[in-house]
Amino acid sequence: MEKNIDFGYVADLYDYYATGSYDLNFYRNLCRNRENILELMCGTGRVSIPLIREGFPITCVDYSEEMLEVFRSKLGDESENSRLVCQDVCELEMDHLYDLIVIPSNSLSEILDKAKQRKAIQNIYRHLKPGGIFFCALYNPFYRVKQADGTIKYLGKYNLDGGRSMVITYYNIYLSDLQIISGTQFYEIYDSNNRMIEKRCLDVRFSVITKEEICQMARSAGFSVKAVYGDYEPYHYDEKSTYMNFVFVKEKRGGRCRR
Ligand SMILES: C[S@@+](CC[C@H](N)C(=O)[O-])C[C@H]1O[C@@H](n2cnc3c(N)ncnc32)[C@H](O)[C@@H]1O
Repeated sequence: MEKNIDFGYVADLYDYYATGSYDLNFYRNLCRNRENILELMCGTGRVSIPLIREGFPITCVDYSEEMLEVFRSKLGDESENSRLVCQDVCELEMDHLYDLIVIPSNSLSEILDKAKQRKAIQNIYRHLKPGGIFFCALYNPFYRVKQADGTIKYLGKYNLDGGRSMVITYYNIYLSDLQIISGTQFYEIYDSNNRMIEKRCLDVRFSVITKEEICQMARSAGFSVKAVYGDYEPYHYDEKSTYMNFVFVKEKRGGRCRR
C-alpha cells in the first residue's frame, strides 16, 4: 500500500509527543448515545482509547499496521468495545453502517490527491446510517499556510525510557502551485549522557483543503453541511480560527452517493 507520510517509521515515538487532550471532551459529547462509531486514521488511539475505556463502542481504522500495533498494545484486554482494522480510507470497505464517523487531527489532509479525498468522503457517506454524522477536523488553511514559513521550529523535548530523551524539530514550506505543505520532522534521540544516539527524519506532506473544497466534496457525496466550528468549544469559524471543524449530516432522505 502506497503511503504519503510513513508514520510507521516513528510509531514507537509517536505517543511521547502526540499527547494532546484538547479535543477529547468534544468527541466524548459527540459520541454520547451513538451505538456504532467509526474513527478513521486513528493512529495509536490518542482519541479513541480514552473513549473506549469509558465504554463507547468504537471501530478504528488506520493503514499503518505499526501504528495499530501500538494502539493494540496499549488497549490490551480492555478491547471489548473496540475493533481495529487496517485499511486505506480511500478504499474503505466495512461490514457495518455507523451513526458517527470521525476523522480527527487534520488527518484527511494527509490524502494529497483531490480525487482520493473525494473518494474517501464518498466511502464515508456509504458507511453511515441515514441521519448519521461525519465529523471532520481540519486546520484552518489561512492559519496553516502562515505557519509554513520554512523556518526550523522546536516542537519539544521528551523523556523516553532508560534515561534517554528525544528532541523534535521540524520545518514546513507551502507549495502554492500544488496546494501542499511539505516539510520534514527531525527526531533526535539522546542517551542519559546527552549524546545523540539516533536521528530519524520523516518527510511530511499535507494537502491544504479550503472550506469551499471540502463543502463541495461533501455536498456532491450527498451530505448536508450542518456546522463549521473554529475550535472544539465550539466557536464559530472565521479566518482567524486555528481549526476548521465540520459537522456533515447524511440526511434521512439525503441525496444519492456517487461511488
Ligand atoms: C497524524 S496521525 C493522527 C492519529 C490520531 N488521530 C491522533 O490524533 O493522534 C494520522 C494517521 O492517519 C493514518 N493515515 C494516513 N492516510 C491514511 C489513509 N489513506 N488510510 C488510513 N489511514 C491513513 C496514518 O497512518 C496515521 O496513523
